[in-house]
Amino acid sequence: MYVKSRKPGRRGERDAPPASPRYTRTRTVFIHWQTSFETGQTLIDTEHRVLVFLFRKLHVAIRTGSPHVELSHIIREVTRFVEFHFLSEENLMRETHYPQMLMHQAQHTDLLAQLGVFASKVERRREAPEDLLYFVNHWLLEHIARHDQHVAEHARDAVARPVAERDYSEFLLSGAARRATVMDS
Ligand SMILES: [Fe+2]
Ligand SMILES: [Fe+2]
Repeated sequence: MYVKSRKPGRRGERDAPPASPRYTRTRTVFIHWQTSFETGQTLIDTEHRVLVFLFRKLHVAIRTGSPHVELSHIIREVTRFVEFHFLSEENLMRETHYPQMLMHQAQHTDLLAQLGVFASKVERRREAPEDLLYFVNHWLLEHIARHDQHVAEHARDAVARPVAERDYSEFLLSGAARRATVMDS
């Protein structure tokens, strides 16, 4: 699924200032779940799937011309879930005594700050929602591939185990269970 940034000047957008040139006009976003995103840590993978789904939801809303107020609500949904996910991942790092936790946490804090600025600009029509989508998709997926993989590897081998790990299979979808669900449907 692709989305391209809209050029300014279309119907209904004429009064809106041009979006920041940094993320506009030529960027294309491809939003789908890839098996390469899977870290093998069930809690992280389950939440990452929801994240990618929410990006997709925002993309669909943009593509189908949802009104600005609706896009704002979805962006709030994305922002809140990103915040929740970061806290959840930080708790996992704490529970398993991840040595690089402070550095990882700083990256989360930085992204949340940037996301907050972006969301506020979109709210005031000073940034195109497509550009926010490009930003979160690019940043987060790179973060998953580079940094969350290390957290998952650590959690797999750590002596200190994640709280409620034994309940994962009851409440969360493991990779195998997910694949079986897809095949059954
Ligand atoms: Fe993550
Ligand atoms: Fe992370």
